[in-house]
Amino acid sequence: MPTVAPARLARLAALLLFAACSSESAPGTADAPAAAPDSPAAEDLDATAADFECVLHWDQVGPYRVTNKLGHDAKSVALSPTGGTFPVGTILQIVPTEAMVKRRVGFDAASNDWEFFALDVSASGTTITTRGTTNVVNRFGGNCLSCHAKAMPQFDLVCGTTHGCDALPVSEQTLVDLQNSDPRCP
Ligand code: HEC
Repeated sequence: MPTVAPARLARLAALLLFAACSSESAPGTADAPAAAPDSPAAEDLDATAADFECVLHWDQVGPYRVTNKLGHDAKSVALSPTGGTFPVGTILQIVPTEAMVKRRVGFDAASNDWEFFALDVSASGTTITTRGTTNVVNRFGGNCLSCHAKAMPQFDLVCGTTHGCDALPVSEQTLVDLQNSDPRCP
């Protein structure tokens, strides 16, 4: 049986050691740029009344309206049958007086970074009456987050009619009629 000469074995061992060392240092170097994608996380939409407008200006997906104030594609998430996470800057409304706004990554884990809004709307514009994560209720006294949190996790708190939320006490047609009578629309 041929045996490996001790000198050759030593060279081989040295080579292996070198290879191990250099491959160990590689992830260290790669780690530094991996931390960089922190910067887009700082992107946020701290909405003011001026961010809200005639809901009919926005895209319609099923019965609700969707826009993104930071130029991201929220509509394709809304249209996806398998759900997804909405991008920062998304605003969703199903009636003119209630809204969900997607805040910065890390804004609030329990609300999937959504901020809920109750709005007053008139021909002269929008007034924010309540905003927050756990404290906002709809006109029927229902808490936005408690209800929307029942949506299946892949739908990012969007209820629709099939995602597991309790139903609203009004018909979908009534919701659409309310959009069509938004007093802010020209
Ligand atoms: C009783 C449970 C309940 C409460 C409370 C509630 N919602 Fe909803 N919401 C729903 C359901 C169900 C739908 C879907 C209705 C449909 O598609 O016919 C919906 C739809 C929506 C939509 C359109 C996207 C989606 O999830 O389908 C937005 C935006 C929204 N609600 C915001 C709010 C806000 C803001 C509040 C609080 C001011 C609130 N909701 C309170 C159940 C609720």
